[in-house]
Amino acid sequence: MVAMDGPSGTGKSTVARRLAENLGARYLDTGAMYRAATVWVLDHDVDLTDPAAIADSTDGLPLAMGCDPLGEQVELDGVSVTRRIREDDVTAAVSAVSAVPELREQLVDYQRAIAEDDASPIVVEGRDIGTVVFPDAPVKVYLTASAEARAQRRHAQNTELGLPSEYDEVLASVQRRDGLDSTRKVSPLRPAEDAIELDSSEMTLEETVAAVAEVADRALQVSRSGEVTP
Ligand code: DC
Repeated sequence: MVAMDGPSGTGKSTVARRLAENLGARYLDTGAMYRAATVWVLDHDVDLTDPAAIADSTDGLPLAMGCDPLGEQVELDGVSVTRRIREDDVTAAVSAVSAVPELREQLVDYQRAIAEDDASPIVVEGRDIGTVVFPDAPVKVYLTASAEARAQRRHAQNTELGLPSEYDEVLASVQRRDGLDSTRKVSPLRPAEDAIELDSSEMTLEETVAAVAEVADRALQVSRSGEVTP
């Protein structure tokens, strides 16, 4: 088990997926689970400012997650929402939905069930994996990068996609989200005490993949030899 946490814009998803591929492990994107719950909430016209209504509507959410690092599969009620979860309205609403404690409990239970369902290794990516979901994970990586580096990457992505983008606005939005994520009451974004922190600000994606693989490899060896993980 590798637990990988950190804010968005660090290359975390790509790195986690590549790491899973290289290790022959399964891959679980927990952000995709909160996004799928958001699709459900939007489809059912639930008031986003009403946490109790969100909790009610998502109770018993019919969500099915695939764990293949080569092809993400997210299904709601038997219908694929793999693309839908990446759309802008979902991205805009997901913070409100993912802050609802009843929903978090339900999804954390499902995350644990997926990991335990099968003895094969798994790389689990999110915000609270090393702190809340799997506090005993043998390997915990916290991937970070400066707000400026993350904003620069998002801005470059937008420009490549032909979307209007102002660097200053992107930076302000990154900083606003960081503030919300790290100060929220339930599962705030922060590194676990025993997580290995890596800063990808000055690294290319390939360099980040290599650095994380090296850290994970070292930590896995240490945990197999029975020593205490640093
Ligand atoms: O990584 P992402 O952007 O796809 O995550 C979507 C949202 O879900 C983001 O607002 C943070 C939240 N999230 C969370 O609260 N806990 C997780 N374990 C993963 C994601």
